[in-house]
Amino acid sequence: MERYYWIETYGCQMNKAESNALVQEMTELGWRQASSPKEAEIIILNTCSVRGTAEMRIRGRIGYYKSLKRTHPHTLVLMGCMAERLKERLKEEEPAVDLVVGTFQKGAFLSFLRNPCRDRIPHIPLQENAAYQFAEGHYLDGEFKAFIPIMHGCNNFCSYCIVPYVRGREVSRSPEEIFRELNKLQDRGVQEITLIGQNVNSYLYEGPDGRMDFPSLLREIIHRYPDIPWIRFLTSHPKDLSDEVIDCLATYSQLCKSLHLPVQHGSNRILRLMNRKYDRDFYLRLVERLRNRVPSIALTTDILIGFPTETEEDFQATLELMKAVRFDDAFTYYYNPREGTEAYKYPDDVPLEVKLERLKVVIDLQRRIGREKKTQRIGSRIKVLVEEMSKMKSTELLCRTERDEMVIVPGPSEWIGTFREVELLSLKGNTFWGKDTGWEHS
Ligand code: SAM
Ligand code: SF4
Ligand code: F3S
Repeated sequence: MERYYWIETYGCQMNKAESNALVQEMTELGWRQASSPKEAEIIILNTCSVRGTAEMRIRGRIGYYKSLKRTHPHTLVLMGCMAERLKERLKEEEPAVDLVVGTFQKGAFLSFLRNPCRDRIPHIPLQENAAYQFAEGHYLDGEFKAFIPIMHGCNNFCSYCIVPYVRGREVSRSPEEIFRELNKLQDRGVQEITLIGQNVNSYLYEGPDGRMDFPSLLREIIHRYPDIPWIRFLTSHPKDLSDEVIDCLATYSQLCKSLHLPVQHGSNRILRLMNRKYDRDFYLRLVERLRNRVPSIALTTDILIGFPTETEEDFQATLELMKAVRFDDAFTYYYNPREGTEAYKYPDDVPLEVKLERLKVVIDLQRRIGREKKTQRIGSRIKVLVEEMSKMKSTELLCRTERDEMVIVPGPSEWIGTFREVELLSLKGNTFWGKDTGWEHS
């Protein structure tokens, strides 16, 4: 008899990659994806804890499944960072949750999935910071883009951030495991891979066969996998982005000319309180070095405003930094206190209205800068990877450039998963509109 699951994934690419790995493992165990939650015997929510808003959304989903249980009984499983943060408390607060699976308990969960029984749902003890086991594969059949974890956890303890508490200390995945996964992806003709980790630049594997740091891993991947056209990596902490990695970006055409380099704030006082371990000048000099070596690089960032004690002057320093750097894009957030972090001890003294006002200013400024930079590129011809049909119109395709920008182009669905050349014609919001030039890239 076939058994059906339903999975929902929240949060970052790491969660998405881990959900893919779980789906692969469940498929091998004979599970099939249900076409709706109502058909599923097991419902899995892979959760995020980074902001209170992320957790609220998941609480809303738990509420929905609680009511669904009355008509469609199922086993509700919470895994991921919120599960790790709240542990058994989650089951007390949300009785609809049957099983909590922490970051380090995936093996025990797979044993349960071999022979699940609603009357005997196990208690999987949540150990903190046990050894993290990477799964074997993190991609789904038919996908032409893949996110490959190369490390797990974080040692940085930025004072606002819950990640080091729910993901544990940094562990670097062995090069052999990474290459095994990439061998399969190259054989399947994957077009783009992104090497992921909370801080990929501190990748360091030391094993019986030697030692490998991040630039050596990048060089090795580039030499071994010439048939993977686009390679990206995410996320880089500014303090760890070395000149050697910048050299790799400058040297290898397979490495996409796009870098996510979260700055968080522009005030030295706030950066110190955030425990970011760099100051404004360090960041500006790093950007200068990067742009000198790789002039075409697109630079994106994270901005976090409303940190405790942030004054108008601190906030202005952030706007000044944004104007000085002129990022291509930015993910912008306002500070949410997270229980257990260092900053949770400080009073959350920037009122919500002020946080929202400042956030709006940041978003407007970034939008303006992004548009100005993009407008200059209208008229140019550029290589894109065709990703999917546009949600708006079935005759249009959503494509992405090497610089991670979106372009809408009229074209047939057969182009999905291939490279094309397009001419950029106009800009709507943050998205380019273009036309295919008839040139198919190999
Ligand atoms: N490891 C990455 C780095 O060093 O930037 C980012 C990890 S975090 C999952 C993604 C972003 O969420 C952070 O860069 C930060 O801007 C934001 N973030 C983290 N904790 C937050 C909090 N307590 N409130 C609001 N935003 C937060
Ligand atoms: Fe969080 Fe800082 Fe680690 Fe990024 S580097 S995951 S922001 S603690
Ligand atoms: Fe969220 Fe955990 Fe990622 S807290 S952002 S899912 S590491």
